[in-house]
Amino acid sequence: MQKKDADYEMLKKLIHQKLGFNCEQYKDSHFKRRIDVRLRATNSKTYGEYVACLQTDRNEFPELMETLTVNVTNFFRNPEVYDVIEKQVLPAIIKAKSTGLRSIRIWSAGCSIGVEAYSIAMLLKHLLGDDFKRYSIKITGTDIDKESLARAQRGVYSRMEVKDVRPAFLNKFFTKEGNDYVINDELKKITQFKKQDLISGPKMSGFDAVFCRNVTIYFEKELQEKLYMDFYNALSKDGFFVMGKTETLLGPSKDTFKPFNSKERIYQK
Ligand SMILES: C[S@@+](CC[C@H](N)C(=O)[O-])C[C@H]1O[C@@H](n2cnc3c(N)ncnc32)[C@H](O)[C@@H]1O
Repeated sequence: MQKKDADYEMLKKLIHQKLGFNCEQYKDSHFKRRIDVRLRATNSKTYGEYVACLQTDRNEFPELMETLTVNVTNFFRNPEVYDVIEKQVLPAIIKAKSTGLRSIRIWSAGCSIGVEAYSIAMLLKHLLGDDFKRYSIKITGTDIDKESLARAQRGVYSRMEVKDVRPAFLNKFFTKEGNDYVINDELKKITQFKKQDLISGPKMSGFDAVFCRNVTIYFEKELQEKLYMDFYNALSKDGFFVMGKTETLLGPSKDTFKPFNSKERIYQK
């Protein structure tokens, strides 16, 4: 495959213009690997041929977006992390919020099709039981991929997609419609999904926990450093930051966050 050339640069510009995807901030190795998937799929031998294909085939941009964003996700991804979230993180948040406004705010950054947000919602409902209604809970999922966000909003999943949901939760929190599993309204009501680019979007604040898992691995080191501080600033006092199992704090965030459970990549403000 060609190395850096004028066509490759042109392709990056086109992707930025048409998809709003800022290629410069992603690791080149990741980026090229993903684009090469589409080159092979469209039988393009060079980046130039692929640019021509993008300009003539209107179905290709959505395909490329899907390939670039890598939406792979799972309910309760890395169960050992969710074990700590269920037994320690959420109970600590609930305890801290048990008086006053009882407001709990959680951000799933890079939420893909919403299963991280719904996993947290299920755990909160499970832990709070009848007290659930006494709390004002909002779980916000953000992503740059419109298609994934539309799926998150619908909350409809296949049998395969819900395979890691424990049976009791599947019964309690989903309604079966044909072959699909639909998230119950009670959980939908406390979640919201919106399009937001972590790189160029507005800065967020006031969260009791921020989950950003398996998103920053594709970003350049400097950007990761910056984003980890953005997440720190998005948290309220004592708020929790949960990152992906293969991700590590970098730069100033290393000394700013307190480790809560380093093995499971959970930190605290
Ligand atoms: C592999 S999924 C991770 C989903 C979920 N957090 C998990 O761990 O299962 C990565 C998600 O990050 C999103 N993403 C990539 N770059 C982004 C950006 N700049 N801003 C917001 N979301 C982004 C992708 O669209 C994709 O849905």
